[in-house]
Amino acid sequence: MTTPLRNGRGAIAVINDWRRQSPPVRPWGTVNYAYPLGECERVSVIPPVDLTEQFQTIQADVNAAVAEVLASGQYINGPIVETFAQAFGDYVGTEHCIVCNSGTDALYLALRALNIGAGDEVITSPFTFIATAEAISAVGATPVFVDIDLDTFNLDVAKLEAAVGDRTRAIMPVHLFGRPVDLGPVMDLAARYDLAVIEDCAQATGAEWMGQQVGRIGHVGCFSFFPTKNLGGCGDGGAMTTNDPDLAATARMLGEHGSRVRYHHEAIGINSRLDSIQAAILAIKLRHLDTWNQRRSEVAERYHSLLAPVTEVVRPQDVTFGRSVWNQYTLRLPQATAAGQERNQVQQAMREAGVIPMVYYPVPLHLQPVYRHLGYQPGDLPKAEMAAHQVLSLPMFPELGADRQMQVVQTLKTALAQVGLKAAQYC
Ligand SMILES: Cc1ncc(COP(=O)(O)O)c(C=O)c1O
Repeated sequence: MTTPLRNGRGAIAVINDWRRQSPPVRPWGTVNYAYPLGECERVSVIPPVDLTEQFQTIQADVNAAVAEVLASGQYINGPIVETFAQAFGDYVGTEHCIVCNSGTDALYLALRALNIGAGDEVITSPFTFIATAEAISAVGATPVFVDIDLDTFNLDVAKLEAAVGDRTRAIMPVHLFGRPVDLGPVMDLAARYDLAVIEDCAQATGAEWMGQQVGRIGHVGCFSFFPTKNLGGCGDGGAMTTNDPDLAATARMLGEHGSRVRYHHEAIGINSRLDSIQAAILAIKLRHLDTWNQRRSEVAERYHSLLAPVTEVVRPQDVTFGRSVWNQYTLRLPQATAAGQERNQVQQAMREAGVIPMVYYPVPLHLQPVYRHLGYQPGDLPKAEMAAHQVLSLPMFPELGADRQMQVVQTLKTALAQVGLKAAQYC
């Protein structure tokens, strides 16, 4: 719980004071937020995600596994990398799993392995992290953005068909915030137009669509092991899952400098491997993933009930066709105006009270400067634009617990009152 400050200043001022101190300098977001603060006694801040609490529960296993890798001298492509790849493929339920350096690389390698490049179009969501579209652009293809459904923040599957053209080669649905896209209509459309489906599962490891893990329904699934993901390493990492042996072999070749046989190169590839240390850590964490995802669901359930009386916000709705794994718990403030000003004020007021909510994502991809050349205008994808100025993600991690959630919700209520946002008129 937040301890009142003796000098009456806001928690953020205190954090900033603390940041200016050195040593040690530690980035916020990965720390416990309970520090000796000189004249201010102590303040405890609720971060968007706290990786240290989870680490403490597996510390002994991780230390032993890392020590083993270090002692082995096999830091790249050691046996643990193959063991983890096999275990992760088994978890997702695909025959092949190619591990690599990041989720971004997984998307890039999937597109390259599908031979998608210059002149091709890939349909995707404008409301996602840049990496999704960036991978499409990196292979020389063009992202085509389709608007989202405001209830799930995922692609509006009913709008996909209108975006299919002569150059369309693939659809890249993103299971955003840990909630699965309704893949049935996506797969039907892809079959009708002979398109590949590349699932961006970066935020949804363990999520299910109709009882099946995401990442095994489309032609390829792409996962991120970025530390804050549901299965996160202690550094970068990623994986591609598929049942297509040719696709798997090509992706593996491309991620190894275009080589199947050492020092024989058949394509310009990249260097994208998962370090042995990361594989060893991820192999341990994979064993806990279902438990941690279950705890995330409990955290989400608790937020749902705590927020039921808070009529100024629209709570995220769970999907009926699958299982969400709540990488984020993202609200909407429907009364926030187009510039997102009130939402930003609510965020700032919460930060000053010691709770750190995040905005994923303040600018939809079709309006990013980097995609200006595609010619999209404000208003073209209204739901994505509305989401960008209304969303607010509350702290979410498996260890959060009821006390801190009550504090988050109380802080949110106070911030809403302070900013003067009224009850939602619609959902
Ligand atoms: C939806 C989405 N796709 C792709 C990525 C890229 O993953 P990575 O950071 O491992 O490259 C991310 C990472 O945040 C993501 O959220």
